[in-house]
Amino acid sequence: MTPHTNIALVGFMGTGKSTVGRLLARELNWSFVDVDDAIVETAGCSIPDIFSQHGESGFRELERTALLAILQGANQIISCGGGIVTVPDNIDSLQKQCTTLCLTASPDALYARVKGDSNRPLLQVENPLVEIRGLIDKRAPLYDQFTEQIDTGDKSPQDLVAEIRDRLGI
Ligand code: S3P
Repeated sequence: MTPHTNIALVGFMGTGKSTVGRLLARELNWSFVDVDDAIVETAGCSIPDIFSQHGESGFRELERTALLAILQGANQIISCGGGIVTVPDNIDSLQKQCTTLCLTASPDALYARVKGDSNRPLLQVENPLVEIRGLIDKRAPLYDQFTEQIDTGDKSPQDLVAEIRDRLGI
């Protein structure tokens, strides 16, 4: 295990960051922190409302501020929103201040998990599967900057937690 005392999970929407993160935190007896939840709490409105009132760029500013505040803490499992990697400073912060793992899944698996969820403004489009494919293509070089990649495939959250613990030796 590296000296970092925070573990961050990144990856596309629907890769299971929050579910896996919550379970991992419970096993390690660490805190679980969800960056999206912190943003909603500070803004006092939902993510779709933030996007419609301030646009994606306004959301990214709130996300950056929330991440920096969270990184002040220790012994936390941090679940990051899928687009956190679109701000280069966030990648830098996560690489320097956390042990960061990137969860991956195929576009079809992601679509099956997120379809019908109205809380993800970027996917409220006519063809969410096409949108998912496009965003993944665009973001692949960003997610690839993290060396620890975990394919979530058909694995259960419990299996993934075991794999993460094994990988990090914790
Ligand atoms: C986003 C992912 C969402 C949330 C927002 C934008 C993205 O988080 O931050 O809707 O740009 O991929 P989840 O990955 O937790 O769904």
